[in-house]
Amino acid sequence: MKVFVIGGGGREHAIVWSLKKSDRVKEIYCAPGNAGIARLAKCVPIDAVDLSGLLNFAKSNHIDLTVVGPEMPLVAGIVDAFKKHGLKIYGPSREAAALEGSKAFTKEFCAEYNIPSAASQTFSDIEAAKRYVKSHEIPMVIKADGLASGKGVIICNSHEEALKALEEIMRDKKFGTAGGVVVVEDFLEGEEASFIAVCDGNHVLPLASSQDHKAAFDFDKGPNTGGMGAVSPAGVVTDEIVRKVMEEIMLPAARGMVTCGMPFVGTLYAGLMIKDGAPKLLEFNVRFGDPETQVLLMRLRSDIVDVFEGAISGNLDKVHMVWDKRPAGCVVMASGGYPSSYEKGKVISGLDDAIDSDETVVFHAGTKLLDGKTVTDGGRVLGVTALGDDLSLAMKNAYAVVEKINWDGVYYRKDIGRKAVG
Ligand code: AMP
Ligand code: GLY
Repeated sequence: MKVFVIGGGGREHAIVWSLKKSDRVKEIYCAPGNAGIARLAKCVPIDAVDLSGLLNFAKSNHIDLTVVGPEMPLVAGIVDAFKKHGLKIYGPSREAAALEGSKAFTKEFCAEYNIPSAASQTFSDIEAAKRYVKSHEIPMVIKADGLASGKGVIICNSHEEALKALEEIMRDKKFGTAGGVVVVEDFLEGEEASFIAVCDGNHVLPLASSQDHKAAFDFDKGPNTGGMGAVSPAGVVTDEIVRKVMEEIMLPAARGMVTCGMPFVGTLYAGLMIKDGAPKLLEFNVRFGDPETQVLLMRLRSDIVDVFEGAISGNLDKVHMVWDKRPAGCVVMASGGYPSSYEKGKVISGLDDAIDSDETVVFHAGTKLLDGKTVTDGGRVLGVTALGDDLSLAMKNAYAVVEKINWDGVYYRKDIGRKAVG
């Protein structure tokens, strides 16, 4: 079959890499892809949010299955558009993607279906929001309602910061229309983990557990990023936590979406805060995590096409995923300056020495080919991912490859997995 992957980050490289292992897949296309993906698939220069361009490509190339990486095309309705033209596509409908596209919707949904999450209030009027935050205890968390590329969440440690955040989001429209509505939420303490599952509307099939490292620098210091590294499994996600997350969060969410008339088909990713054995939902995403997907797919031993097709056909109860028992870790190598401004176009050296093996894979994110050389083309550039007999060996394997690779301004965290190893 011909498969089309939408996106061009490390997550999409991992999806393409996993598809490449399937006997059922003959050809893979990716829009727009990156320099690493180009070695496994045909990259086509169509932006991941150019819905009509993507649709025309899929129609004229007789694509059998499309897999969507990022949230933007999902929230914009790519799944509805493809289905209208009879094309098979994996992901939630525009309506169901509101679980990521609108934090206000999700808070209301959680209240309705008793899904544990931080107490919150939603505001569309800035003066009402200001009055509320003045009397709210600190810290508190202010979130723009819509998509803001992961930047729309501000943790406020004083009332002044909270008032400033409201002005930036609601008055100055720092995140555009995403900030017309804000959610003000209690601050939750605990340990974060990612709980990622595939859903077919009625069934929820959880993947192995994983954990992201959001802060830019070692010891969780510095600004929040899209993710500087990941491990799987996540030690904090015990069997008992898995049971609670399924019973208290994932299954009620799937049932709730059916009740709302918008069954959820696709990847449901719960960002969790876990304290004293009790998981609470920080947010839902409607797509795979990045870099969690890199560690998860490194460990997946089943055919990923069966998983996507099981979700689309409503037969996930018949799909079983087999996981490599060995843990995996991923170290993200980023451009100096990320997550703020950074330069692109730096020549990456050492990739020829960092040859992929059964145990280590260098997933590309922001890279492109320029005059035969691989150069940086984004904030997160590579995700060096490795398996090991235990997590510390997996991290050792990953860092051994990281040390071979270099470019002007490269930086990465040196402590990925350290908390989990203990
Ligand atoms: P979100 O995009 O909602 O997951 O928020 C991004 C990050 O902000 C999360 O990964 C957490 O580190 C942090 N965060 C979000 N909501 C809360 C909360 N209610 N309490 C504490 N931290 C939060
Ligand atoms: N790694 C966090 C995310 O994908 O949202």
